[in-house]
Amino acid sequence: MPVRIHFRRNLFSFRHIEKWIFTFYIFIKIGFTFYSSIPTDETEILEPYSFEEFKQLKKRISIALDILPSIRENVSCPILFDPEDQRYPEAAAKASKWHFESSDWNFWRQFEATPNTCEALQQTFSFFTKPLSQEEAEYPLAYGMLVYKDIKQLLYVLSAFYQPQNAYCIAIDGRSSGAFKTQLQTIQTCFPNIHVFVTKRIEYCGPRIPEAVLTCVDKLNERKHSWRYFQ
Ligand SMILES: *[C@@H]1O[C@H](CO)[C@@H](O)[C@H](O)[C@H]1NC(C)=O
Repeated sequence: MPVRIHFRRNLFSFRHIEKWIFTFYIFIKIGFTFYSSIPTDETEILEPYSFEEFKQLKKRISIALDILPSIRENVSCPILFDPEDQRYPEAAAKASKWHFESSDWNFWRQFEATPNTCEALQQTFSFFTKPLSQEEAEYPLAYGMLVYKDIKQLLYVLSAFYQPQNAYCIAIDGRSSGAFKTQLQTIQTCFPNIHVFVTKRIEYCGPRIPEAVLTCVDKLNERKHSWRYFQ
C-alpha cells in the first residue's frame, strides 16, 4: 500500500512534469515542422494599385505588343476598338492579314540571354505585382491550364490573366519538348503562385485531359492558399 501511494505522488512529481513538458514540446516541434514544410504562397490580402500607379503601369503594358514584329504598322488598336471610326473597315482588313507567329524558337532566347530572366519576363509582359482592385484582392481565384507547346503564346495568355493574389497550376503534356518543360520550370521559379507539373502523355480528347485538370485541383489544394474558385 505505501508503495502505491508513493507511485501516485510520483505521477505529479517534478520529474514527471518535466517529461510531459518534453513530450508536449516534441509534438509542437513535429507539428511546426510539418506546417512549415507546406510551401507558402502569398495568402495575405495584398494592397491594390493606386490610381497613380495604375496610370504608370498602363504606359508599360504596350511593351509586350511592341516586341511583336510589324504589329504596330499593321494593327491599329485605337481604330479597331472603335467600329464607328471611318477608317475601321480598312484597318480591320489590314489587321486580319497580320499573323501572330506562335512557334518562335528565338523568342525565349531574348529572355534567357538576360542576367535576370524573371525580371525581364516580368517587365516585358507587365505581370501585375498587385491586385487591380480591392474586390479582386479579397477574392483570390485558382486557374488550371493544360499546355503542350509555344512558350510565346503561353506568355501572352498567362500575363493577360495573371494577378499575384491568385494561384495558377500549369499541367505540361508529357509529350512536350524538354525545352518547353525547362522554360515552364523557369517561369515557376519567377512566381510563387505559379505551379507546374508534367503529366503523362495526353491524347487529343482523351481521358487524361480531365485527369490532368483534377490533378491541378489537387495540387492547388495542397498549397497554403486561400483561393475560392477554380477555373
Ligand atoms: C506589316 O507591316 C510591315 C511594315 O510596314 C510590312 O513589311 C508587312 O508586309 C505588313 N504586313 C503583314 C501582313 O505583316
